[in-house]
Amino acid sequence: MLDTTDPARSNAPVLPPEIARRRTFAIISHPDAGKTTLTEKFLLYGGAIQMAGQVRAKGEARRTRSDFMQMEKDRGISVSASAMSFDYREWRFNLVDTPGHSDFSEDTYRTLTAVDAAIMVIDGAKGVESQTKKLFEVCRLRDLPILTFCNKMDREARDTFEIIDEIQESLAIDVTPASWPIGSGADFIGCYDVLGDRLELMNRADRNRVAESIVMEGLDDPRMAEHVPAELLERLRDELEIAKGLLPPFDRQAFLEGHLTPIWFGSAINSFGVKELMEGIGRYGPVPQPQRAEPRQISPEEPAVTGFVFKVQANMDPKHRDRVAFLRLASGHFRRGMKLTHVRTKKAMTVSNPVLFLAADRELAEEAWAGDIIGIPNHGQLRIGDTLTEGEALRVTGIPSFAPELLQVCRAGDPMKAKHLDKALMQFAEEGAAKVFRPAVGSGFIVGVVGALQFDVLASRIELEYGLPVRFEPSQFTSARWVSGPREVLERFMAANRGHMATDHDGDPVYLTRLQWDIDRIERDYPELTLSATKEMM
Ligand code: G4P
Repeated sequence: MLDTTDPARSNAPVLPPEIARRRTFAIISHPDAGKTTLTEKFLLYGGAIQMAGQVRAKGEARRTRSDFMQMEKDRGISVSASAMSFDYREWRFNLVDTPGHSDFSEDTYRTLTAVDAAIMVIDGAKGVESQTKKLFEVCRLRDLPILTFCNKMDREARDTFEIIDEIQESLAIDVTPASWPIGSGADFIGCYDVLGDRLELMNRADRNRVAESIVMEGLDDPRMAEHVPAELLERLRDELEIAKGLLPPFDRQAFLEGHLTPIWFGSAINSFGVKELMEGIGRYGPVPQPQRAEPRQISPEEPAVTGFVFKVQANMDPKHRDRVAFLRLASGHFRRGMKLTHVRTKKAMTVSNPVLFLAADRELAEEAWAGDIIGIPNHGQLRIGDTLTEGEALRVTGIPSFAPELLQVCRAGDPMKAKHLDKALMQFAEEGAAKVFRPAVGSGFIVGVVGALQFDVLASRIELEYGLPVRFEPSQFTSARWVSGPREVLERFMAANRGHMATDHDGDPVYLTRLQWDIDRIERDYPELTLSATKEMM
């Protein structure tokens, strides 16, 4: 039976069953914790791929553009880099990929606006690492419910209490055990499923075999002793007794509000703990949530279709300069061929070839429901932050664009090709991969990113996708602020600061700064102006 109850929605109307069975989530982790391996197992159990772990790319370009693109190459299967849908039991999962690089925090932030929950994967030996922490903070800004998967339990791991303690301390979130490991390192034999009262035994001999699962009547069930050596059983009982006293019990409301994370222990590579985690998302995870928008919030059960673009990916196929805009459906029942209104331009748009990244292939999406992600091929009309509706002038809010922290001047290796550079940079600006500013004085472009590695990625993409070698050179500027305020003051300000002024790819004025002092000075001298480090994408 499908459980459509959701305490966070106790006053909300009942959702259509197709929407109630959807779970849209992302996986966050520090590199190497096991996100790719876990994703593979999800796809495997979701029937989207037939085998896992047999052909794995080693080293080199494994995480450059996308783990999935590499998987695609390795296996000859087609999985999307950005969103994948698969069914598991009665649920439809939409897994949205977060970029692997620590440098892509902005892209990651936007990705997280499209999901209702996140799985945090940590390495049992390493605990909470820097990137986990950063991504967690982003989830917290949106109060996303978090499920934790403590991976690599087949190896020597830290003490269970120590891991839980570290999560509670460093992330300031309560932790409740959904499962508890039995033994550790070479002696690890499996877990006790605390929420389901089952004993889960790992099969070390066969990595692809799913755990043996035995229903128990609590820890004192005499059959426990048939499967667990006496010493480990005693330790398990002691530890769970202590855990009961120290840790809060599972509380779905607290989980859905983002205050409590249930933790599962497992080993993705050994297929252990993965199905329990999937069941956890299905059973306890949030249904598609209402979306913040202007002038009113959008609820998933509304019959009219609405959706918003959270990601644009260009040149997915270098042979055709296509762009795919990834649309998260916020409400309604979408059908292929529907005519939707592109709210920013007020133009009608017939969505005739939407793609759904389902099973082993890209498929034409004949239909989709609130919570789903569809890809819409287009020639650049759709931008990050755009809203599509059946006519109502709604605008989804909360998809920010961050102030870049590093600015460099970008020049074409061949000056004759400066025009192409313009086109390439505008495309990346629209994709949200970089900020591109045209200075008011002088020529060239100033490109802003959040992490240094992005310059390298941009340079190689411009060369690969446009056949254009480029150079990045240091710039005198260190940051940028969007400026807004009364027209007359703004014009006076711009005229007095021409050497610092630029426009972004939408033509909006931007002030390029050298020092924090510049910003302080303007705030003092022009109190009517607002300097903003972020700009809502629209
Ligand atoms: P990531 O996407 O989070 O970066 O991690 P990924 O899945 O690529 O896993 C990183 C490494 O950890 C891989 O090993 C992978 O096989 C290993 N791993 C994943 N899950 C487990 C687990 O449950 N137990 C153990 N012991 N290892 C695990 P690698 O040597 O870097 O690559 P490969 O040669 O195995 O492909």
